[in-house]
Amino acid sequence: MKFFVDTADIADITALNEAGMVDGVTTNPSIIAKSGRKMAEVIAEICAIVEGPVSAEVTATDLPGMLAEGRYLRDIAKNVCIKVPLTEAGLRACKTLSGEGTQVNVTLCFSPGQALLAAKAGATFISPFVGRLDDIAQDGMDLIADIMTIYMNYPALRTEVLVASIRHPIHLIQAAKLGAHVATLPPAVIRQMYKHPLTDRGLEAFLADWKKTGQSIL
Ligand code: G3P
Repeated sequence: MKFFVDTADIADITALNEAGMVDGVTTNPSIIAKSGRKMAEVIAEICAIVEGPVSAEVTATDLPGMLAEGRYLRDIAKNVCIKVPLTEAGLRACKTLSGEGTQVNVTLCFSPGQALLAAKAGATFISPFVGRLDDIAQDGMDLIADIMTIYMNYPALRTEVLVASIRHPIHLIQAAKLGAHVATLPPAVIRQMYKHPLTDRGLEAFLADWKKTGQSIL
């Protein structure tokens, strides 16, 4: 499973990348707004740190605007992946941009039908938002299961399932059990996964016993 990090925070991206936890980065207009920085500037800086795909989302809602913004954003760096919303214009932009050799991440996916349309439009990635479905008492993982079933029925579909809107480690584990290709993770969720009380307790006991030996390794 590929881990993408869902942030534009340079310090978080750098630290997690050094730990081998970053196969790519996703942003969206809200994440860029939170960064307080100009999109082109922060995307360029992220692309210089991370080798994998870095999603930059268009903000136009019409086809000509999406194409103009997507062609501008992809020129920032070779690993820029253009993010478009799952709308009719977004899928038309996806078809054109992917046909031009640009990676496209189709976002704001909430149904299996939408995911099938995105694959037909040549999406590199589809981003189903599991957390936002959970937020309205629908099981977001059911959507992932449905999409994986559909995509696996048709190997010719090359789109990778990029599970997004992840709220906690259980979402990640469930997505991995379903065989999702990618999960985009808030840095806090990755850090939560490091922690287990039995690990802490076991290490404490090891070090207490080691201290009794009076030895040191160096
Ligand atoms: O990249 C998509 C992701 O940022 C959405 O997550 O928490 O805003 O639903 P969230």
